Amino acid sequence: MYPADMETSIGKVVATRERRLKEALPRLSEAEKTPLLQKYHPDYIEESMRQLQVGPNRGEKAPNELADLLEGNSRVDPDKVDLGRVDYDVGVLVIGGGGAGASAALLAQENGARVLLATKLRLGDANTVGAQAGTQAADRPNDSPAIHYLDTVGGGRFTNIPELVEALVKDAPSAIKWLEELGVNWDKEVDGSMHELSGGGASRRRLHSARDYTGLEIMRVLRDEVRNRGIDCLEFSPAIELLLGDKGRVAGAVLVNLETNQIILVRAGAVVMASGGIGRLHLQGFPTTNHYGATADGLVLAYRAGAELIFIDTMQYHPTGVAHPVQIIGQLVTEKVRTLGAQLVNVDGAQFIMPLEPRDLVASAIIRECHERKLGIDTPTGEMGVWLDSPMIDIIRGEGTVARELPAMVRQFARYNIDIIREPMLVYPTLHYQNGGIRIDPAGATSVPGLFAAGECEGGVHGRNRLIGNSTLDLCVFGRRAGKAAAQYAREARPATLTLDHVRRWQQGLEQAGLSGERPVSPQLLPDYARQVPDYLSLHSRQAMSGGQMKIT
Ligand code: FUM
Repeated sequence: MYPADMETSIGKVVATRERRLKEALPRLSEAEKTPLLQKYHPDYIEESMRQLQVGPNRGEKAPNELADLLEGNSRVDPDKVDLGRVDYDVGVLVIGGGGAGASAALLAQENGARVLLATKLRLGDANTVGAQAGTQAADRPNDSPAIHYLDTVGGGRFTNIPELVEALVKDAPSAIKWLEELGVNWDKEVDGSMHELSGGGASRRRLHSARDYTGLEIMRVLRDEVRNRGIDCLEFSPAIELLLGDKGRVAGAVLVNLETNQIILVRAGAVVMASGGIGRLHLQGFPTTNHYGATADGLVLAYRAGAELIFIDTMQYHPTGVAHPVQIIGQLVTEKVRTLGAQLVNVDGAQFIMPLEPRDLVASAIIRECHERKLGIDTPTGEMGVWLDSPMIDIIRGEGTVARELPAMVRQFARYNIDIIREPMLVYPTLHYQNGGIRIDPAGATSVPGLFAAGECEGGVHGRNRLIGNSTLDLCVFGRRAGKAAAQYAREARPATLTLDHVRRWQQGLEQAGLSGERPVSPQLLPDYARQVPDYLSLHSRQAMSGGQMKIT
């Protein structure tokens, strides 16, 4: 049930359905793509980015909000941390409790390492659980990793690092199998074969799903496995700085217990950064699909320790975030809705983009429709959007399809008296994914020895635009690879004498660049509308020691 003004437009949507059933919009030509992106995609708004002035990516552009944090002041005063008092001594420290962190922890343990997983919130509080549509893997007779490769680099505008894509697509079928063996309930056909759909930018049906809560199902299983195998987990304990050992290798981290405010020192043979995304920075004021802890912490810590970043000037704005009702603005409306046949239409019920173009193009077309062509639909709360005509799904695929394939989506809207089986959804782009991140090699190794990265915080796999279903695949493939490689690295690493000298050098660099006074303290840890983490560890704060541990006052 929509407000009366919006119902007028819905009347036009209903009236054009019969015509639209026969209307298949062509794909955009190469000549059409670049101008569409350059004019409407948020990444191309010049004032939204600036050049970094310090660190390994100095001279390169990053979104303003991220640049501030990358160039931020440390929360840690190196002179006030007793590096002789180590709380945990482990083989592999995994930072992050989402799908990539859990996968890395499992593989590191399987490869003989003593593992500690530390996470900012709870194990499983991560973007993984928000992933809805599925996981790509080429495992059908008419498909192959080579075709998956071509789709992925096409979606990434041919900027992806080839060896990383090769690793992604070659490992994909075994990743699906591994997850199934651990307990993931993939959707199946009656003959027991995988139920697979297609997605934007994909030329084959290779999207493996658990209805429209695929990521939640994956995380359920990975979390259980981490617990069942007895892997040590520290919850509510984010990393606030990495620790380095001899020859500049990463050898642990400084964590803080968010409940007691006490510092925890972890020495590790190797560290896997799996800290997730950055949506809660709300770049350019966009709403986000991301979970509460997605504040770029891993990028900040890795950057400060000398790790190179890649493609950090490119973000994924998922084309279909909720635009109405106001209570769920920015939440994900899965691409699977379009995969199943829903069309995007404007206020007059007219299609304006082939719905399964890659996400950057669809998002740009929606922004153009609303802001340049003025053919969007206004909401009572001042938002704007276009219709995603979900009732087309049952018309095309038969009654009951929406209820069967999209149960979470049906419930999400039913809470606000909108029946997506009979009524369209109002959508607008929402900040969804960080395409780039910490540069890795196929083993998940970063440019700093001893530091590995996996999942959304790493970059290079997806180039400048990720395809649907390649994120849940990425977290599994590179989580596993990084976990294994970190365990191997740790086996050969000598116990390190810990230092925070890189933090001293970092602060000197900020001073020299005249930035120290201008930049915030980072990592941010929580969104800026959260009850703030006290500025307890910054260079400018009070600290007290209690029982050998630094206590936050
Ligand atoms: O649309 C979606 O369900 C999102 C999937 C993804 O980001 O891969």
